[in-house]
Amino acid sequence: MKAVVYEEVRRVGVHDVADAAVEEPSDALVRVTSSAICGTDLHMYDGRTGAEPGLVLGHEPIGVVEETGAAVDLVRRGDRVVIPTHLYCGVCVNCARGYSAACMRVRPGGFGAAYGYAGMGPYRGAQAELLRVPYADANCVRLPGEPGDDREDDFLMLADAFVTGWHATELAGVGPADTVAVFGAGTIGLLAAYSARLRGAAEVYVVDHVPERLALAERIDTIPVDLRDGDPVERIKELRRPPAGEEGLDGVRCGIDAVGFQAVDRADPSRENPRQVVSDLARLVNPTGRLGIAGVYAEKDLSPAPTGNADGSIDVPWATLFGKGVRVGFGRTHDRRYTVPLRDLVISGRARPGVVVTHHAPLDDAPDLYRRFDQRADGVVKAVLHPRGR
Ligand SMILES: NC(=O)c1ccc[n+]([C@@H]2O[C@H](COP(=O)([O-])OP(=O)(O)OC[C@H]3O[C@@H](n4cnc5c(N)ncnc54)[C@H](O)[C@@H]3O)[C@@H](O)[C@H]2O)c1
Ligand SMILES: [Zn+2]
Ligand SMILES: [Zn+2]
Repeated sequence: MKAVVYEEVRRVGVHDVADAAVEEPSDALVRVTSSAICGTDLHMYDGRTGAEPGLVLGHEPIGVVEETGAAVDLVRRGDRVVIPTHLYCGVCVNCARGYSAACMRVRPGGFGAAYGYAGMGPYRGAQAELLRVPYADANCVRLPGEPGDDREDDFLMLADAFVTGWHATELAGVGPADTVAVFGAGTIGLLAAYSARLRGAAEVYVVDHVPERLALAERIDTIPVDLRDGDPVERIKELRRPPAGEEGLDGVRCGIDAVGFQAVDRADPSRENPRQVVSDLARLVNPTGRLGIAGVYAEKDLSPAPTGNADGSIDVPWATLFGKGVRVGFGRTHDRRYTVPLRDLVISGRARPGVVVTHHAPLDDAPDLYRRFDQRADGVVKAVLHPRGR
């Protein structure tokens, strides 16, 4: 089968590799119809998190079940399915409690796993013609309709981006009438902002410095804040006009980090500063506010920025967060909790997360799309690969 393979720093290729296959009775084999490229893939592409050459990339697929193992009950050949990024067994103690990103059975010697992801288990990636899906009864989420229909992009966002965006709003406890600031207008940030709107937030600000991404923030009815115009904390405080008597509450109630450790330094955008977003959020959040950190902070960074460390540790303004009594939530999305309800929001027409998709291409175009996405060039926000054509 053809697959997108990591070759070396900032180079992927489309190679012929051994076909994915059913290996265990609880596996399914899925023929991929759409497979998106994610900001997480860029952490590997940039040579930061220790991807080995030969790794098949990708963790955001939808497709059609081709074959099932003897123990699979809930899906059959021909079913249209979305496959969540973070695979899980569905029945261990953490899965049962709804913490599927910490599944105890999918990664020997660790917890939680993902497809095509350095350090997250042995599973090959989904930017390929075929994908082996372990624990298929848990990890194949059924979809209505036909491959390539007008909801293909919306359903595809259920594999990771919409679910992670929603998770970020859970971590930040976004509810009706809240004021929200999202740092990062990649797909995760945009769909976190979109989720905040769905949850009834009163005001949603989205911070970035890439014009096409800020334009998408405006398109989903949120307020873009351009880093190039100066300190975004001051800018949001100017835009917010709390009623008389509430002047000290000119920040936001909920803040979301949808950038992660490769954040740019505002003082010198040619450099990274993994402390930038967290320290901006600590200044911006109101006393007793809440933060959701969904951007990845990698435990292994092969070439850390000057303010970072190889083990991922960074300085954070702990005292500011303590003084304000801020609640902080972290981490990977627990797909098992969200994929089905968010799918049903798409089916009902209440959510159209495919609005963030900007590019469609055959698998062979992956090297070019990775390069342009990495450079945040040509308006590439969310690129979708089609192994079987469109
Ligand atoms: N928690 C999870 O389960 C999960 C799942 C998927 C992705 N992620 C992570 O979420 C992050 C975002 O993913 P994405 O696909 O949207 O990536 P992306 O690279 O497309 O978007 C990141 C955006 O952040 C912007 N940015 C950089 N520095 C900034 C700063 N100082 N202030 C504000 N914006 C800044 C960039 O311009 C870019 O538009 C990545 O770290 C990714 O690994 C986490
Ligand atoms: Zn992803
Ligand atoms: Zn489990």
